[in-house]
Amino acid sequence: MTIDLRSDTVTRPSAAMRAAMAAAPVGDDQYGEDPTVNALQERVAAQLGKECAIFLPSGTMANQVALRTLTRPGDDVLVSRESHAVWHEMGGSAANAGVQFTEIGTGGTFDAADVLAAAKPRGHPIYPPTTLVEIENTHNRSGGVVVPQDMVERVCAAARGRGLATFLDGARLWNAAIASRRKEAELAAPFDLVAVSLSKGLGAPGGSLLAGSRATIDLAIRYRRMFGGAMRQVGILAAAGVYALDHNLARLADDHANARLFASRLAQSRNAVLDPETVQTNIVVFGLGADAPDGAEVVSAARERGVLVFAFGPRTIRAVTHLDVTRAQCGQAGDILAAIVERTG
Ligand SMILES: Cc1ncc(COP(=O)(O)O)c(C=O)c1O
Repeated sequence: MTIDLRSDTVTRPSAAMRAAMAAAPVGDDQYGEDPTVNALQERVAAQLGKECAIFLPSGTMANQVALRTLTRPGDDVLVSRESHAVWHEMGGSAANAGVQFTEIGTGGTFDAADVLAAAKPRGHPIYPPTTLVEIENTHNRSGGVVVPQDMVERVCAAARGRGLATFLDGARLWNAAIASRRKEAELAAPFDLVAVSLSKGLGAPGGSLLAGSRATIDLAIRYRRMFGGAMRQVGILAAAGVYALDHNLARLADDHANARLFASRLAQSRNAVLDPETVQTNIVVFGLGADAPDGAEVVSAARERGVLVFAFGPRTIRAVTHLDVTRAQCGQAGDILAAIVERTG
């Protein structure tokens, strides 16, 4: 059986999740009349400690709507290096919100000093005004890094001091909460807008939410419609999210332990450049040492042995654990990858 570690988005809805979807009461969500969507929105808003939340089809749409809501065309947005916003959204920020990014920090995080050094003032005759700071937590391309909460608080305080808005791309905020043993509301508190995804570790087939104040969400509702993301009897999808929050949240700790196991097995080969101790959540990003094959070769050799992984770059591979892979499979996949990079498998 194939062990698919390309992403935590590859999970398939279980029979019980499908049954919950089939049974969901629905209505027209654009009239605010879908009871299942409304229940999900209220639940997630409460969980994130925000006034209200809206349901959107995808995490990318949530991020795009957030950028459009909190900025004006021509603005500058501070983001982490290797952020999803820069690498994985097809240039949507430039096309949809008309903003430019300034990448700051290292390893998926940055501190208040980085914000103060990079923020360009409003009203300057030459500089584009910086109006927004975006944090990604957990940080995907840095290997599922949890951004330390004291750092988040310093960054958001510095941003507020400069009159900048704050946005959290929390597609995997659930993982950050489990790994840091903090409530989602605490992680979300410093931000004006927060995006969370149901289709990653939680295992729903789609759906994300944006949460914030009533006034900010009212603006976001306009842009959701403008971007084509307003849906109708979508309680069918929201029901999967409700099911996922009920059944798949606490078990994320298993994914984190399985990612550690995968990483420790992989580290049997010195040609895998990683420190298993740094694996905090469900994402393992590792480099290929000088004696290892390149990324495309590793991906295809692993596929031949029944393991799917993703090449982030010519010498960088990502593997992600999730609810459709067992602990034993994660260990086995680590052994297989170790042999491939060692050139013995
Ligand atoms: C950090 C982060 N933000 C946003 C997204 C976008 O989510 P979607 O694939 O639902 O558009 C992803 C997807 O992997 C992600 O990793």
